[in-house]
Amino acid sequence: MFLTGTGRINQAGHLEIGGCDTVVLAKEFGTPLYIMDEELMRQNCAAYRDTLAGIYPNSQVAYAGKAFLTKAMCRLVAEEGLALDVVSGGEIYTALAAGFPAEKMIFHGNNKSPAEIELALQHGVGRFVVDSHGELELLAELAAAAGKKAAVYLRVKPGIEAHTHHFIQTGQLDSKFGLGLADGEAMRAVQAAAKMKALELKGLHCHIGSQIFDLEPFKLAAVVMLDFCREIYRQTGMIMEELDLGGGVGIRYLRQDDPCPLADFARLVAATVKEKCAEHNLPLPKLLLEPGRSIVGEAGTTLYSVGAIKEVPGIRKYVAVDGGMMDNLRTALYDAKYEAVLANRMNDPAEEIVSIAGKACESGDMLIWDILLPKLGRGDLLACLSTGAYHYSMANNYNRFPRPAVVFVRGGRADLVVARETYDDLIRNDLLPSGI
Ligand code: LLP
Repeated sequence: MFLTGTGRINQAGHLEIGGCDTVVLAKEFGTPLYIMDEELMRQNCAAYRDTLAGIYPNSQVAYAGKAFLTKAMCRLVAEEGLALDVVSGGEIYTALAAGFPAEKMIFHGNNKSPAEIELALQHGVGRFVVDSHGELELLAELAAAAGKKAAVYLRVKPGIEAHTHHFIQTGQLDSKFGLGLADGEAMRAVQAAAKMKALELKGLHCHIGSQIFDLEPFKLAAVVMLDFCREIYRQTGMIMEELDLGGGVGIRYLRQDDPCPLADFARLVAATVKEKCAEHNLPLPKLLLEPGRSIVGEAGTTLYSVGAIKEVPGIRKYVAVDGGMMDNLRTALYDAKYEAVLANRMNDPAEEIVSIAGKACESGDMLIWDILLPKLGRGDLLACLSTGAYHYSMANNYNRFPRPAVVFVRGGRADLVVARETYDDLIRNDLLPSGI
């Protein structure tokens, strides 16, 4: 078994996180429960921030809110001095409600609505990452109407596709995100943006993928982007003052996973940008990174109660828990794999292979296939590890299951940061047509 951050086995043989006994947390807050290790999230923010600042002072780390965003998280991100990558009006609204400074928000999205753009303009969101020609025009029009000047990055497709263990350089253009390099779309957008009075073209952005272990594709992306900066300078005389190279490194889901340390990633990207700028004789741009998963992923644990157990003789044993694809869509969507531990009997020997099922009305609702665990019984507490990123943020109400609560734990203290949904929450927006 592996435990991350402040996770450990306490004297009672229970899983403890942030100094809190998870058996006590289950009693107090119920299950399923998302537990977030606050110290580990802060350490991860600091690792990116301090490493980058140490070798590349003109830099900014922006936390990618899509991984996990709540008001409490926005506050933590602000306290750690990070900026915030947002992708919707809802994320902007959440951050504003938490008092997060709008000028430190970077607004992404391939189809921002006029209302979302207006919200962002009205509050002074710091950067708009423009994804298409149509958006460039829409933003220019709305900014002019609001009497504002919008600071813009253009999202470029660097033609590098990275997956967990490999990457390909395709020059491929078939993606819904960004402006192509190979077909000249990105260059045309640079030229168009430069002419728009309501826009200020500040720089470029790219993002090559998520849950990447290999550093090579990140390096290559930096090279491609700086080659493009040189080309822009050659053709237009414009200097790209800021360069945002997108999301961070992958994390550990399984014991055999071996992601690279956050600091190594930050160092390599910074060094590549410096090298290429020197080679091209360009001034160093302000460098931004937007990690999400690697800040919160390993800091999250989902605690479930075991319910029905069903043995299919000679085939497998299903152990059902009180959550599933409603709180963890990743197994069903990406065939993601997880480790789990028996939180209330951590020292018991593992003795049988079981499969962990969710309770949704859907055969595909399986959390873990074939995992070796101690013998489980009804009422046991199962903790699924590394569930901090893209779990709560992708949680849903399939079958009208209320979404779980979220607690931040630290130094023996547990703070409820998202209350468990109630049945009333589920019907809050339901209306009956008149006459019924
Ligand atoms: N910046 C941009 C523009 C992005 O699209 C993303 C992730 C990030 C930053 C953060 O990347 P990270 O550091 O988290 O790798 N739902 C999927 C992940 C989708 C990632 C989308 N973009 C999952 O659960 O694996």
